[in-house]
Order: sequence, then C-alpha cells, then structure tokens
Amino acid sequence: MHQDILEVLVSESQIKEITEKLGKQLTHDYAGKNALFVGLLNGCVPFMSELVLKIDTHIEIQFMAVSSYHGGIKSSGDVKIKYDLNSPVQDRDVVIVEDIVDTGATLKTVTELLKYRGAKSVKVVTLLDKPSGRKVDFIPDYIGVTIPKKFVVGYGLDYNEYYRNLPYIGVLKPEVYTK
Ligand code: PRP
Ligand code: MN
Ligand code: MG
Repeated sequence: MHQDILEVLVSESQIKEITEKLGKQLTHDYAGKNALFVGLLNGCVPFMSELVLKIDTHIEIQFMAVSSYHGGIKSSGDVKIKYDLNSPVQDRDVVIVEDIVDTGATLKTVTELLKYRGAKSVKVVTLLDKPSGRKVDFIPDYIGVTIPKKFVVGYGLDYNEYYRNLPYIGVLKPEVYTK
C-alpha cells in the first residue's frame, strides 16, 4: 500500500466486481439504443476503461473535461468546462461516466447542459457516491458503491493531480493535506 494511504476503502477486486455488475446492467438497459457514453476527464479514466470493456452492446464513447476542485480537497462549486464533446447529443441516449459524486455540482451542471442541448435521455453512472457531501440535490442512476464522509484518492481520484494511479480507493492520511 502507498505510504500516504491510511486505509483501503474499496479494493481492486471489489472494483472488478462492481464494474462487472454495472457493465451487465448497462448492457441490458442500453441494448439496441446506440448510447453515447461520456466520460468526465480526468477522474473517469480508470473506471471508464474498465467499465466500457464490460458493456456488450453497440455504444459510442466520447469525453468531456470538467473541473471544480482546482487541486484542493474542497469543491469550489464553480464547474468549468475545459474540453467539450466532439459529438452532438441531440436525440441521443447519453450515459455520463464519473468516478465520484460528492457535492453534486459537477453532475448537476453537466446533466442539465446535455439535456439543454437536446439529449433524449441523460443518466449517470458513478463508481463512488458520497451522499454526505451533497450541496445540490442530485441522485446518480447507477452507483458502484456508497462511501462515508472521507477524502478518498486512487483509481482516478486525485489530490493535487497525484494518486490517480492507485489500483484501489483509499483514504488519504490527513497529514498529507494539512501540512
Ligand atoms: C472530481 C471528481 C468529479 C467531481 C465530483 O473532479 O472527479 O468529477 O470532482 O465532485 P462534485 O460532486 O463535488 O462536483 P475534479 O473537479 O477534481 O477534476 P478531475 O476529475 O480532473 O480530478
Ligand atoms: Mn472529475
Ligand atoms: Mg480532482
């Protein structure tokens, strides 16, 4: 385990089980719909890669980059689009892929934007849901696992852009971000 990690919250094998289960559900729910899967960079990368390989139906994959944390451990609440979609969402069934829903600001903003642009449906699949962090009402449609009020990193989630490469979800030692 990495020296800056206090405890592992979701292990590599648990993540594998979660992606398999969600992949099956999404395969079933989106069969024959030509869905557009939109990953939110940068955090979505490991989860998106593993999840889409478990979806056994015809789907398109695109990315958007949005950011609200600007590096720290607290959301700024100000969601910035740094890189937009390369594909129109008009009349498409869209599935947004996220690593975590915390305050809900990112997902609420992006969901509303894609609906405004004319998507037929917009659903959200997230690896982690942290309902205790909510500042705006938002309920993800597909949830891997619900986690407690702790600052977590790994498997795409960062602190100051580091720790994204850990193969598990871990709690960061508080001394790492308080010093
Ligand atoms: C993180 C995370 C989600 C979002 C969730 O992204 O990946 O996208 O925050 O938080 P919220 O529910 O409070 O909006 P971040 O803005 O840190 O960008 P990143 O994905 O590049 O790390
Ligand atoms: Mn993100
Ligand atoms: Mg981040």
